[in-house]
Amino acid sequence: MSSILNEIEPLKQAALAELKTAPDLAALEHTKGAWVGPHGKFTALMRQLGSLPKEDRPAAGKTINAAKVELEAALVARREELELHAASPKAPTDFTVPGRRRALGKLHPLTQITEDIVRSFRKIGFVVADGPEIEDEYHCFDALNTPADHPARDAHDTFYLKVGQASRLPGEHASASSASLAAGPSSSRGEAGETLALLLRTHTSSVQIRVMEKQPPPVRIIVPGRVYRRDNADATHNPTFQQIEGLYVDKDVTVSDLKGTVEFVFKDLLGSDVKIRFRPHYFSYTEPSFEIDFSSSLTRKLGKEWLEIAGCGMVHPQVFENVGYDPEVWTGWAFGFGIERVAMIRYGINDIRLFYENDLRFLRQF
Ligand code: DAH
Repeated sequence: MSSILNEIEPLKQAALAELKTAPDLAALEHTKGAWVGPHGKFTALMRQLGSLPKEDRPAAGKTINAAKVELEAALVARREELELHAASPKAPTDFTVPGRRRALGKLHPLTQITEDIVRSFRKIGFVVADGPEIEDEYHCFDALNTPADHPARDAHDTFYLKVGQASRLPGEHASASSASLAAGPSSSRGEAGETLALLLRTHTSSVQIRVMEKQPPPVRIIVPGRVYRRDNADATHNPTFQQIEGLYVDKDVTVSDLKGTVEFVFKDLLGSDVKIRFRPHYFSYTEPSFEIDFSSSLTRKLGKEWLEIAGCGMVHPQVFENVGYDPEVWTGWAFGFGIERVAMIRYGINDIRLFYENDLRFLRQF
């Protein structure tokens, strides 16, 4: 009998003893490596097989393989034992402890109120439309009959974009990017090659134009969305805020349709004691134009009988001309109001900045 054969049994016993008593999974892996890994003692023994006389090799190989199988089984058994131990509770379970609640997330109050407003308008057949926040001057101003010298177009009031600089993608040529951006929102406008000034839209009224350019009348849309103005933030202003635009175009539409709709929606939203008042005003895209004030127990809580809430009016014939609608056939009204304003009144909030600070103590109240 060769010396290798004599070594197998004691080596196996030693390995088994170590495997079976490995204190944890890391130690077990280490023991495995020390015996049957590439540099393990058992592996070394197998390498010596080649040096045995030919007639001894089959018997030695067989014994070694049997030992390996035995070691493998011991390894698996110990691993299962240790895994089970690691997974079992360290302390007994106390079933009388109160359960842990998973905190439920909530929609932001501005999102909640937007959804409520949209729901009210859907009841009377309006659909939601959308448009770009990066807008061109044509859709934001010209098409809405707003002349070039109107104060809203002033660089002090509006965020203009430097086309080809701010909006250029890496590796893109300035000319290519300005052309494609200008063509994106306003491909139907301007002479070939003309670049229209881009800006962050100052109101959602631009979407009126985009929708009417795309579809024939009748139109019945509302447009919730973000708008931008060069205002300093204070209790009632923020450079970014949200508006909802409404546009209704059909035959024989009148101011009383506008009044009835506004009254329905505000009563639906803020309670049946709401009163609405229209004051003459000026907007270049409506004629006649009004500002809407409303009064309710909520405005009285804020110390005021009447609060201004929206601008509105009958769509100006020039606006219809600009989108290719015949003003002799079609009539319509439009309005726009600030969503924050409605939320502030509804919840009695006196500082608009609270909406944007994302302080959970504020947000959890809604
Ligand atoms: N765009 C106006 C603003 O931002 C609000 C407005 C007034 C919208 C009259 C309209 C309208 O559609 O007809 O103050």
